[in-house]
This record gives sequence, C-alpha cells and structure tokens, in this order.
Amino acid sequence: MKKIALAFQLNGRPAALEVSPDTLLVDLLRDALDLKGTKIGCREGECGACTVLLDGEPVNSCILPALKVQDRSIVTIEGLTRPDGSLDPIQQAFIDAGAVQCGFCTPGMILNAKALLSRNPNPGEGEIRKALSGVLCRCTGYQKIVQAVQTAAGKAEQVMVYPLSG
Ligand code: FES
Ligand code: FES
Repeated sequence: MKKIALAFQLNGRPAALEVSPDTLLVDLLRDALDLKGTKIGCREGECGACTVLLDGEPVNSCILPALKVQDRSIVTIEGLTRPDGSLDPIQQAFIDAGAVQCGFCTPGMILNAKALLSRNPNPGEGEIRKALSGVLCRCTGYQKIVQAVQTAAGKAEQVMVYPLSG
C-alpha cells in the first residue's frame, strides 16, 4: 500500500513520517515512534488503555487512523514529563496515592485526568469518575485513582502550567 506523508505535533514537537493509510495511531506511536507508554488492551475502543490526547481531548488511539492526526496535536503519557525531567503533578499524585498497581491502565487514567483538570481545575468526585469512566482498571478498585486526581486538583495551578501542546 502506498505510504502517505503525515505531519503533526507530538508532545509539543513536530513529527513527520510516511505511513500506510491503514496504520492505526497506537501502532504508529508504539512501533514507528517507540513510545511504548501508550498501552494496547482490547483494540476495540472499549478499555481506554490506548488513550492519548488529540488537541487536548482523550481519544482511543487503537481505533484512530494515524492519518487523522494530520496537522493536529497529540500528547502521549511521555509528553507529560516536564522538560526538566520532573513528573506532572498528576503523575506524582498517582504515585503518592498508591494508585498504580500493574500500571496498565495508568497512562490512560492520567491522560483523562489531565484533560479533565485542564478544562475544570476543581472537579467533584462524580465528575472525576465520569471523566475516567472510559478507562478500565482491573487492580485498584478505582478509589485510590480518584483520590490521586483529587490531590492533583489541589495543585491545579501546577497542572495547568504545562501546555498540552506546542
Ligand atoms: S486498546 Fe484501545 S480502547 Fe482498548
Ligand atoms: S493498575 Fe492494573 S489495570 Fe489499573
């Protein structure tokens, strides 16, 4: 299949490569760009393990053709680490709350939390649970994850400092 030129913003930097029209974004990220933080679970848009931010909004990258991100912004979990190497406050809050067990759901959870706190720095528990509802966790029972997001919300100013793109 003939490859097509694709250019987009990836974690705040320009990315350009050639992809087949049938390439899915999750495979582009993991295989061509070696960003393995984006996980693969169901490959059917059901589990949220493959969540990335597209122009700041969570999407399931396992069902998104890579060519759909032409000229748009993608943020993966790797993009949340700050230029000085420190963690995003949401990442730190997950560690501090013990919200990471096997870790398979964690990138998707954190990116959904990032999108939520970027548009609403002070969400209630119901809003947090709703925002995270597209990501399945088999390990934690969700309570510590919700606590982690609540803790990060208390540091919303820091959460907002890091740009989602650009
Ligand atoms: S792997 Fe994409 S939603 Fe499950
Ligand atoms: S920590 Fe294992 S699936 Fe959530």
